[in-house]
Amino acid sequence: MAVASSRSRPPYWLWLFLMSSNRKSRHDFVVVASRLPVDRVEDADGSTTWRTSPGGLVTALEPVMREAGGVWIGWSGDAGPAPGAFEADGLQLIGLGLSDNEVRHFYEGFCNATLWPLYHDVIAPPQFHRRWWEAYVTVNRRFAEAAAEQAAPGATVWVHDYQLQLVPRMLRQQRADVRIGFFNHIPFPGYEIFAQLPWRRQVVEGLLGADLLGFQRRADATNFLRACRRAVGLTTRGSTVRVRELEGSRTIQAAAFPISIDAKGLGEIARRDDVRKRSSQICDALGEPGLVLLGVDRLDYTKGILHRLRAYGELVADGRLGPRPVLIQVASPSRERVEAYQTLRDEVEVMVGRINGEHGEVGYHPVHYLHQSYPREEMAALYLAGAVMLVTPLRDGMNLVAKEYVACRNDENGALVLSE
Ligand code: F6P
Repeated sequence: MAVASSRSRPPYWLWLFLMSSNRKSRHDFVVVASRLPVDRVEDADGSTTWRTSPGGLVTALEPVMREAGGVWIGWSGDAGPAPGAFEADGLQLIGLGLSDNEVRHFYEGFCNATLWPLYHDVIAPPQFHRRWWEAYVTVNRRFAEAAAEQAAPGATVWVHDYQLQLVPRMLRQQRADVRIGFFNHIPFPGYEIFAQLPWRRQVVEGLLGADLLGFQRRADATNFLRACRRAVGLTTRGSTVRVRELEGSRTIQAAAFPISIDAKGLGEIARRDDVRKRSSQICDALGEPGLVLLGVDRLDYTKGILHRLRAYGELVADGRLGPRPVLIQVASPSRERVEAYQTLRDEVEVMVGRINGEHGEVGYHPVHYLHQSYPREEMAALYLAGAVMLVTPLRDGMNLVAKEYVACRNDENGALVLSE
C-alpha cells in the first residue's frame, strides 16, 4: 500500500476505518504458487470461465487449502491484466497478471526452458538468457509484494516450486514477522548440474529467506544443502543451514516431506455408480480389448512417453501382450509454445501413428492417444478401466498419477508399473 503524504491523507476517522478493513482482509495462511488452481478460459461469446489448472501442484495443494482456509496467490495462466481477488469453488484467490513478454521470458523462458530441464538432470538442454533471468526477478518480486500485502501479522506463508525461488528472501525483506515455508515439487539437481546456472548463488540465497524448505526426496534436500556450501560458502549441519543477517543469525531447515493426494476423496469418486458406469462405457467403446494399459501424463519430455510407446510397440509386435491389447495414453497439453514441447508432441504423434499403422486393423487401434485434459470423474473412470497403469517418467519430483491410480482401485485389482 502506498503511504499518503500528510496533505493528501484522508481524515483520521476514515484512515482508521481503511486501516482496520485492510487488516480484516489479511490472512493467517497464504499460499503463493505460480499458478492459481484455476485457469482463465475465454469462451466464444467473450465471457470468462475458470477451469482446473494442470499439474501435480494443484492436485496436492487444493485439498489442503480447502481444509486450512486462507488465500491462494497465483497467475491465471494467460497473458493479460491481473484478475485480482475472487472466489472460485469456495477458494479465496488473488490472481496476478503477467504481460505477454513476461509469459515469454519468465514462464516459457526461465521457468520452463532454463530451470525445468536443468532441474530434471538436463534431459533437454537448458538455455540461459539474461533477459529471462531479469523477468524471473521482476515476476518473483510481484509475487513477494502480493504475499506481503495479504499476510496478517505473524501469518504463515507457503511458497511453492521452482518458479518462485526468490520469493522467500524478497518476502522476508518486507515482512520479517511472517513464517515462511517453501516446497519444491520437482527434483533439486546435483551440484555439478546446478553449477551450470549463472545465477545459482541468487537462487540459493532466495530460497534461504524461508524458515523451512521442503523437498520430495532426501536426495533433493541433500543436493540443496550441498549447493548452500558450494554456491554460497555456508556451513550446514545435518538438515540445517545457518545464515548471518543484520538482525542476527537464523537457522533454516531443509528436509524431505514427500507430498500426496486426497486419496479418500478420490477413492469415493471411484466408488460412485456414475463413474463405474462411465468406466464400463469406456471399455465397451474400445471394442473387445484383451488387456487395457493406461498412461496419464502432462505432455512433457520428463515423463518418458516416447520410451513407453516404443516399448509398448515392441511388446505388441512380439505378441507378448496377448490378442488385441490397447494402450490409452492421455497426454494433457502443456507449455505448448515452448519448442521442446512442440518437438515432443510431433514425435509422440508420429510414433502413435506408426504403431497404429503397423499393428491396427479396421475397428482396432492398439494406441488410443488423447491430447486432452479431463475432469477428476473421467480420470477416475479411466483408472478403473486400466488393468495396467504405466507411470514411467525418466525424472520426476513425485508422480501423483501413480497414487491416484492406487486410490481409485478400491477393488485391490490392477497393476502399477512404476519406474525407479
Ligand atoms: O509440478 C511441477 C509443475 O511445474 C507445477 O509447478 C505446475 O503446477 C505443474 O507442474 C504444471 O506446470 P505448468 O504450470 O507449467 O502448466
